[in-house]
Amino acid sequence: MTVCEAPGKVYLFGEHAVVYGEPAVPAAIERRAAVTAEPRADDHVRVEAEDLSLDGFTVEYSGGTSDRPDVDVPTPLVEAAMGYVDAAVEQARDAADAPDAGFDITVESDIPLGAGLGSSAAVVVAGIDAATRALGEPLDRRELAERAYRAEFEVQDGQASRADTFCSTMGGAVRVEGDDCEPIDAPNLPFVVGFDGGAGDTGELVAGVRALRAEHEFAADTVESVGDLVREGERLLADADPESDPDPELLAALGELMDFNHGLLAALGVSARSLDAMVWAARDAGAHGAKLTGAGGGGCIVALDESDATETALSFTQGCEEAFRAELATEGVRVVE
Ligand code: MEV
Repeated sequence: MTVCEAPGKVYLFGEHAVVYGEPAVPAAIERRAAVTAEPRADDHVRVEAEDLSLDGFTVEYSGGTSDRPDVDVPTPLVEAAMGYVDAAVEQARDAADAPDAGFDITVESDIPLGAGLGSSAAVVVAGIDAATRALGEPLDRRELAERAYRAEFEVQDGQASRADTFCSTMGGAVRVEGDDCEPIDAPNLPFVVGFDGGAGDTGELVAGVRALRAEHEFAADTVESVGDLVREGERLLADADPESDPDPELLAALGELMDFNHGLLAALGVSARSLDAMVWAARDAGAHGAKLTGAGGGGCIVALDESDATETALSFTQGCEEAFRAELATEGVRVVE
């Protein structure tokens, strides 16, 4: 039996625009998905996911994952999560040259599904890592990240960047621009997350931005402007000392860019009333900056605040179900057992 766990992430800057080759800077956070893989004697795949839904569920099927029968999966979100598990199994079979490998898989996650914190990337990364290790064919991190990206790309009908999967594999802060992915040195930023209890449909939201961008030059310009502000943010991070606590000037400058980034994402139609309400609650509480994180449509915002004020204000904000401080996860995917 092999257990691997991979972190979720927040986007400091650059989601959506990264799909069109602009740079993005996501940072891994200490909320993880753990996947257990136990090889079986047959070619069946049995998936148990107790905490992906209120009731939990178990499903077993044989042969290719595309043959998965129409089982009673509790919600569309869990159905989507199952798609990522299927894709992870296929990538592990392919990497290990074991097309008929069967597994008992258990998924446990403390990352809310579809909420902008990289739950699907964490499940895919931990799943491929656990399944290939269980077959005695561990992958190096670059190949693991690449295969995890391919899995997401397939599930999201060809609409995915490498950002979420690379960040979850490597941990820390990373920069992604097209297929150029590198870890970067960044100070430990005081992230506060607000979660509205909901989720967005990444595929639909990405398709919405694609359509706007194709229809209006000003939408295409907006995507490019996101790229410009990310480059500005990268310069700020490059000048900062990664070993020291970030100084107030750096936080103010990063926060200003986050506010701008949120405005541009809202212009691209991916914010939501609940996300805007949490962003404004964070700003009113004195956060240096705040923006939605991930695909949007619902889910989470991320703010920068070294004091408790934003977390407290968010916990009293109508529509905010949970507020928490998110520590940078310096370690990416790891083997637990
Ligand atoms: C989703 O977490 C981030 C998006 O940029 C999509 C992607 O990069 O694959 C919206």
